Amino acid sequence: MLTKLLFLALSVPMLLTACGEAPDTHPGQPVTQRRAAFKEIIKNFEPMGVQLRQGPFDSKKFLALAIQLDSLKETPWQHFGPDTNYPPTKAKAALWKEPEKFEANRKEFIKAAAALAVVAESKDQKQITPVYEALHETCRTCHKSFKE
Ligand code: HEC
Repeated sequence: MLTKLLFLALSVPMLLTACGEAPDTHPGQPVTQRRAAFKEIIKNFEPMGVQLRQGPFDSKKFLALAIQLDSLKETPWQHFGPDTNYPPTKAKAALWKEPEKFEANRKEFIKAAAALAVVAESKDQKQITPVYEALHETCRTCHKSFKE
């Protein structure tokens, strides 16, 4: 009972946040579009991590995911225009204050995503794992500075 109450107490505010999110009313909905682009990226990125961490490693499926991710690597960035810092964005204000740093992070990510598609051709988990990890590091680095 107590656990149930605790669960309710925790989940109600979370639900409210989800429903209470500001609608994206801006022309072309850039915030919605870049978030959708990141969702597609993680949809391909995450199953590769699961394969490497938990197995089974399926080199053919892995390669297909890596190629798919490579093809998506340019998709979020065009939606980060100068007037796109508005709710419901989770981007930090720092992103618009430090554009060079954001750009450097972005370039690292693009390089790493391309490198993963190349090394995935080897179908060798030992070679692939550190390259996947390097790509993961580019997500973490950018999110730490620029995403809430
Ligand atoms: C150069 C910076 C940068 C890199 C690299 C980056 N992200 Fe992000 N990501 C962001 C920012 C900024 C947001 C917040 C966008 C917004 O809410 O407007 C975000 C949001 C997201 C979201 C949330 C989308 C939503 O529904 O709100 C996911 C998931 C995500 N990123 C996954 C990833 C993954 C996985 C990687 C690496 C494979 C990655 N990102 C690499 C900057 C980056």
